[in-house]
Amino acid sequence: MGKRALVVDNDRLCVEMLGDILRREGYTVSKAFDGMEAMEMLQREPPDIVFLDLVMPKIDGDRVFHYIRSHPRTCHIPIVIVSGTLVEDARDALDMKADGYVAKSRREQFEQNIVTALRRLRMGEAEGGREILGLENLVPRHKVKELLAVRRFSQTVLRTIVEGVVEVDGLRRVLFANRACLEMVGRPELDLIGIPVTDLLTAEHRGTLEAVVAAFLGGSGASRDAVTLQYRDRVLRITCAWISPGDAAQGFFMILRDVTDLTRKIDELSALNARLQAMDRMRSELLTMISHDLHTPLTAIKGSLEVLLYEAVGAELRRELLGIAQKNADRLFRMVSDILDLARIEAGRFQDRRETFDVLTTLRGTIDRLHQMAQDRGIVISLTAPRGPLTVSADSLRIEQVFTNLLGNALKFTPRGGRIDVTAEEREADILMTVADSGVGIPPEHLDRVFDRFYRVPLPAGSTVEGTGLGLSICKAVIEEHGGRIRVESQVGRGSTFFVTLPKRGAGAAAPPAAG
Ligand SMILES: Nc1ncnc2c1ncn2[C@@H]1O[C@H](COP(=O)(O)OP(=O)(O)OP(=O)(O)O)[C@@H](O)[C@H]1O
Ligand SMILES: [Mg+2]
Repeated sequence: MGKRALVVDNDRLCVEMLGDILRREGYTVSKAFDGMEAMEMLQREPPDIVFLDLVMPKIDGDRVFHYIRSHPRTCHIPIVIVSGTLVEDARDALDMKADGYVAKSRREQFEQNIVTALRRLRMGEAEGGREILGLENLVPRHKVKELLAVRRFSQTVLRTIVEGVVEVDGLRRVLFANRACLEMVGRPELDLIGIPVTDLLTAEHRGTLEAVVAAFLGGSGASRDAVTLQYRDRVLRITCAWISPGDAAQGFFMILRDVTDLTRKIDELSALNARLQAMDRMRSELLTMISHDLHTPLTAIKGSLEVLLYEAVGAELRRELLGIAQKNADRLFRMVSDILDLARIEAGRFQDRRETFDVLTTLRGTIDRLHQMAQDRGIVISLTAPRGPLTVSADSLRIEQVFTNLLGNALKFTPRGGRIDVTAEEREADILMTVADSGVGIPPEHLDRVFDRFYRVPLPAGSTVEGTGLGLSICKAVIEEHGGRIRVESQVGRGSTFFVTLPKRGAGAAAPPAAG
């Protein structure tokens, strides 16, 4: 088995760097990030050499050093002190009689000094323990304190900001990840330190992160080109920025912004915008249709009146013209009432008229009223329903209006000899009513639109059916206002079935408050 080295330092960057160097020198490397951890590892499995930092939180290097030296199992293990603050303490440090001293410095030089220290140890060169390699790079302790204060400050800032920040070294490895980043990524800090930054998320995101980093390093280094990606249930926006512009070796920051809410809001806004556009289109279509539909009966009325006023007409023609005028005035009146109805329903101005009633009674009443008309047209209407009442809390006049229009439509669009089957049944949460006819049916491309205002399926040339195309839009508005649903299934030439549900007792938009 190869030689084993234990590296003890709270500075993760240094641990990783030293680990790399030692592995290249043929060592198997264990890492301890504080004195406590180091002592545990020493007890468990004494290594062949220890690289020890002196200044660590909790248990510091001095104590670890004495621990190693004073235990029979470990006292023979060579110790190389690795430190960034040996200047003032150089004499004390050398008095410790370690087997080597290496000052922390930039990578290449650090590597060289470590290799030298190892070589001296191998050769048994005694002066190895009397010289601090890389001393010229050491920073005076007060300077370190200042630097540490700056670092603490920037770490506090990094900790508190909402952006995820990853510090990446010159070799694209993660040195530090702030709390926001750990939360976004959903991985513990120890999983991230030392890994390539492109492995920050999952394997399937690696390609994207590689592209982000390559674009950043290859380009001007401007972080304008943000990349947005989906990570688990979040949307992350990723940018990079140099730690020290002009010095790529210092590495860079990768910045992650959680834009999930923003993305959702944008989606909502686009949906809203699409709806507004659709409504705007509908409004202009509506205007065209209203003006057309109002124009036709008005023209008929105007024409009749003009003839009556300016021309001498016989009694019979006079009657006929007045009949035309009256019929068209009726039509206009119905249309205007429907439009007003629709406006009123949509403004929700009928809620106070809710009452508890048996919807089956209303349905039977509607069928009875239309019975004569059906008989005249040779159409049979049947009703299949339970015996007992089907109670709903609703505006009974409006519900009756819905049945009248559905049955009226079925009668209008069913040829002589056909049939209309009406059903009503109670289900767990609602009451389902269907009106099925054996009529002409609705072509599939029009199915979606029959509930639109003024929409009528074009009729074959030559045939006429009364109507303005408002009935179903009123039905839909009424049913939905009551918390129910209406839909249609149809086959051309075979007939149509309308399905209506109503919540059992006034569930839905404006349920009356419970008594008491
Ligand atoms: N049972 C049905 N069979 C075939 N087509 C239907 C049926 N019900 C509705 N339609 C189609 O849907 C269109 C819209 O129906 P809606 O009830 O809204 O208007 P209308 O009956 O034409 O006029 P209004 O009800 O305002 O007097 C109808 O013109 C027709 O083309
Ligand atoms: Mg109708």
